[in-house]
Amino acid sequence: MASEVAAQRVGSGALGGPAGPSKWTARQVGRFKPVVFILALYPVAHWVWLGFGDGLTANPPEFLIRSSGVWALALLCMTLGVTPLRRLIRQPALVRFRRMLGLFSFFYTALHVWAWAYWERGWSLSSMGEDVLQRPFIAIGLVATVGLLALACTSTRGWMRRMGHWWVVLHRVVYVAAVLSVWHFWLIRAGKNNFLEPYVYGAVVGVLLVVRAGIYWRERRVGGGMVS
Ligand code: HEM
Repeated sequence: MASEVAAQRVGSGALGGPAGPSKWTARQVGRFKPVVFILALYPVAHWVWLGFGDGLTANPPEFLIRSSGVWALALLCMTLGVTPLRRLIRQPALVRFRRMLGLFSFFYTALHVWAWAYWERGWSLSSMGEDVLQRPFIAIGLVATVGLLALACTSTRGWMRRMGHWWVVLHRVVYVAAVLSVWHFWLIRAGKNNFLEPYVYGAVVGVLLVVRAGIYWRERRVGGGMVS
C-alpha cells in the first residue's frame, strides 16, 4: 500500500511533519504485526474452545452466524479507527496495521456469509437469491459484502500502483460498507426490538466518519490532494 510505503518514510518526517525521537518508525510498528495478527484470530480460537466445551449455545449455526457478523463489524470499526488514532497520537506509522485489520474484517465477513449460505440456505443459489429478495437486511448485507470484496481484492501494492488516485477514491467505499453494515445490524435487531448494540456501533461509525471528514477537509485546505 502506498500509505505503507509512505510510512517507510516516516523517519524523515514524510507524513507527520518533522521527525522527532518520539516517532515510531515503520519498522518498529511492523514488529507488532504478528501480535495484531494473533489477536485478530482470537474469535476463531474462542469458537473452537466453545465448540469443544459444548459452549456454542443450543443453536451453534445461529451463534456462529451472529458472532462472525459482530466480529466483522468490530474489525471494520477498528480499521476505520486507525487513521484518526494515528493523527491523534501523532504516530503515522500506525497505518501499517490498517490493511491487516481490513483484511481480517473481510475474513470474518466471508465466514459470516459462508455460514449463512451453508447452514441457512444449504448452498442453494435459488434459495440464496430468494432470501436476498425477501429480506431487505440480507440485500443490504450483500451490497456491503460486495464493497468489502472489492476493497480486499485491490488492497495490494500492485493494485494501488495501477489505480493511482482512483485507489484512494475506491477505498472510501469502506465508509459506505460500514454504514450499510450498521443498517443491516439495525434491521435485524428491529425485528427483536433490541437496538442497543446497533446504536453503539452506529455511534462509533458516525464519530469515525465525522473525524475522517474533518481530517479530509483540513488536509485539502492545507493543500494535500491525496489523503490516506
Ligand atoms: C451477503 C451478505 C450477508 C448476509 C447474507 C448476512 C446474513 C446475516 C444473517 C442471516 C444474520 C442473522 C440474523 C438473525 O439472527 O436474525 C446476520 C447477522 C448479522 N450480520 Fe450479517 N450478513 C451479511 C453481511 C454482513 C456484513 C458485511 C456485516 C458486517 C461487516 C454483517 C454483520 C452482521 C451483524 C453485526 C449481525 C447481527 C448479529 C447479532 O444479532 O448479534 N453482515 N447476518
